[in-house]
Amino acid sequence: MMQSSFSPIHKLEDYKPNPWLTPKLDLRFDLDLHLTVVRADYEVVLQSESIEPLFLNGESLEFLSLRIDGAIVDPEDYQVSPTGILIPHPPKDKFRLTVENRICPAKNTSLEGLYKSGSMLCTQNEPEGFRKIVYSIDRPDNMMRFLVTISGDQTLFPVMLSNGNLVGDKQFEGGKREVVWEDPFPKPSYLFALVAGELQETVDSFITKSGREITLKIFIEKGNEEKVGFAFDSLKKAMKWDEDTFGLEYDLDLFMIVAVEDFNMGAMENKGLNLFNAKLVLANKKSATDESFEAILAVIAHEYFHNWTGNRVTLRNWFNLTLKEGLTVFRDQWFTEDMTDPSVKRIKDVLFLKEFQFPEDQGPMSHPILPKTYKEMNNFYTVTVYEKGAEVIRLVSELIGRENFKKGLKLYLSQYDGQGVTFEEFVSSMEEVNGSAIPYLRNWYHRSGTPMISVKEIYAKDSNEWILELTDTGSSEYPLVFSNSFAVFDREGRLVREEKRVMSGARDQIRMAALDSKGTKPIVSLFRSLSSPIRLDYKQSEEEIKILAKVETDGVSRFFAFQNLIFEWFRKSLLFGKEDNFSVILETIGDSFGRNWDKTYHSFYLSFPGLTQISESIGCYEFTKIQNLRVWAIESISTTFTKEFQVLLEENRKTIPVQTKEEIGKRRLKNIALYYLLYDPSKKFERLAVMEQREAKHMSEEVSALKFLLEVESKEKETSVNLFFDKWKQDHLVLDVWFAAQVATGEDRCKIAEQLENHPQFNIRNPNKVRSLYFSLARNPLSFHKEDGSGYTFLAERIKRLNEINPQMAAALTKLFSPVSKQKGNLPKIAKKELEVLSNLPNLSRELGEVVGTILNSL
Ligand code: ARG
Ligand code: ZN
Repeated sequence: MMQSSFSPIHKLEDYKPNPWLTPKLDLRFDLDLHLTVVRADYEVVLQSESIEPLFLNGESLEFLSLRIDGAIVDPEDYQVSPTGILIPHPPKDKFRLTVENRICPAKNTSLEGLYKSGSMLCTQNEPEGFRKIVYSIDRPDNMMRFLVTISGDQTLFPVMLSNGNLVGDKQFEGGKREVVWEDPFPKPSYLFALVAGELQETVDSFITKSGREITLKIFIEKGNEEKVGFAFDSLKKAMKWDEDTFGLEYDLDLFMIVAVEDFNMGAMENKGLNLFNAKLVLANKKSATDESFEAILAVIAHEYFHNWTGNRVTLRNWFNLTLKEGLTVFRDQWFTEDMTDPSVKRIKDVLFLKEFQFPEDQGPMSHPILPKTYKEMNNFYTVTVYEKGAEVIRLVSELIGRENFKKGLKLYLSQYDGQGVTFEEFVSSMEEVNGSAIPYLRNWYHRSGTPMISVKEIYAKDSNEWILELTDTGSSEYPLVFSNSFAVFDREGRLVREEKRVMSGARDQIRMAALDSKGTKPIVSLFRSLSSPIRLDYKQSEEEIKILAKVETDGVSRFFAFQNLIFEWFRKSLLFGKEDNFSVILETIGDSFGRNWDKTYHSFYLSFPGLTQISESIGCYEFTKIQNLRVWAIESISTTFTKEFQVLLEENRKTIPVQTKEEIGKRRLKNIALYYLLYDPSKKFERLAVMEQREAKHMSEEVSALKFLLEVESKEKETSVNLFFDKWKQDHLVLDVWFAAQVATGEDRCKIAEQLENHPQFNIRNPNKVRSLYFSLARNPLSFHKEDGSGYTFLAERIKRLNEINPQMAAALTKLFSPVSKQKGNLPKIAKKELEVLSNLPNLSRELGEVVGTILNSL
């Protein structure tokens, strides 16, 4: 049963406000790469009726001293342990507490707390990294006003930053400098940040709608000055959008972003001082793909939006993480819809949800968006909390309407400004503007698993009606509310009815008139654009799906109808042996060429689903079989439409390297055409792909050629790999893509990965490299789930190394073992053996211990 791990379990039901708070904090750093001294001076105030013990969290700290109101505390009166300092009997209900400790940033490879990356020192504190910097009441319901003094050698640390405004700057003899930062807004410890080092400063500005000028700064490592333009533009767009959409203005005079090379996640919304994974800041047309430009736009916006949803109104406890993350993801999705193309953005988001969140919710790591327990909070920054959380917020906006949603958000932010709250407060504000309660909405926060809605069709002869019976087949403990946008089409594909319906509870019935007096059944498209985060069990005929794939007026649902057609073909072909019905797919593709769709949309429509997507959609894990069918299918498409693809390629070849809708669309269409042409059995287009790579003007073109040639195992693949490397060996962000492409598709990639991890440019301490190589490999089912178990052994060995270096990365990588219980043959057994070894590691981290334990329980 439970794995041996001594970490306590945190339970939502046990949540209590802390008896003590520290509303004011003077923090001082004497910076040194190896021995930084940190002193915190807290105003400590009792919250409860009577005096209770005071506990300060602390981890990996070297304790130096403790004072109360300036006087050294008798060592008898407190206890220092590896998890913190306990003062059993504090002397009074209000006092000043001064605590001092030392840390070694250079040795901190966990990249949590204060650590060294390249030539800079930086911090990552969400959720519980602050306790690795200084003893503190390290929880989000403890809001503090920070005054931060940073002292350091000015040649080593010419730039020294923290949150808020710079209020002091002094030089001292001997090269020391001291700066003081003051943040006027109270905040929890997780939003504190410090950065120091030799950084290049770039500057821009933004005028708010009330006329205030905000200084914007992006700090980068030297040499990257040419790569910040897009990030600045993205930031200004986000600032403007939040004003236009929600009336939300930025609240300090200075907004800073720092690009960090070694970063465990995407980015972090520290007040006024966002820290970013460098790959989500730096970009120019030479070095970044269209996808990375879009990711930069979205993440810059996401972190900026947190200033209100997360920072001004923050969390009471970590169980409520989705309150800020689900909401802020929804806001950034909405922003990108407005900045780009709503249908295409929605398609991308739904594809992501289906490929990553649905499986998580059906696997061993499944949890509600409001987790009820955790051992290590770091493990709960999940696609469920983020992306499903965003779907639940989207659902709220569907239920009350987007205009009411805007009002509701404003109300929520004004009601709870400066406080730490829970999802209950958010839902109440939304219900307040709605004018009535929304039954079952809260249950979305408590129920795990993707709801499955089954649909039955019944013909009522008397009334000549068709009745659709919808049933939520899941937990009766937590009935849910759904928004169901649906449309009805006749047999010629004409739209006859459109409606938005609320399904409250487990059952609903939709009645619709038959199409004629003979009782002909209409064609129904349910939950358009995925109006609720559900799976649908609706057995529509191939004929009906085919019609929807052509005529659905909702572009998102049209796209997914076509995908369903493809999945259905796989399902049948695996059961009955293949091929005959493939003409339906060919016809639909043929039809799309005449449609004059938006180019990006068309390119998505034409993209053939990947192996994992297919396998998840049809619940089959025989990857080799699926892959053989998949290759057969793509080859058929390729040879049927060689002409069309050549035309598409020609028409869209000459693209201008700029980030406009038109040019992005052209590049995408060109690339998809190239992709199919490369599956032509004659192989005659492979040279062309190499040429396209050589002559490319935009990274999207270069990367596509590289990936495709690797995927089809072209004899040109080595040429392509070498070409790419020679051109980009100086730019390690670009090399991340190069590492990934070589292991992301195909069989036996563990051998390649073994060579690549010995490459001089690989570094297991850099999370981007770990993601490129190990995560890409583990997401390649042909190599990771290889029958002999070699994929599991390979990955487990790297996880073991990472456990010592960076527990967060080790745990995140281990989550990719989640689908092992569904695999064939000996695979589950082999996985179990490997995971057991991990669970018995001598220095098993809390992060890894929790994940390994959870997956083992499913085996
Ligand atoms: N709050 C950050 C964001 O979503 C992410 C922090 C992730 N922290 C972690 N421990 N994984 O913008
Ligand atoms: Zn976030």
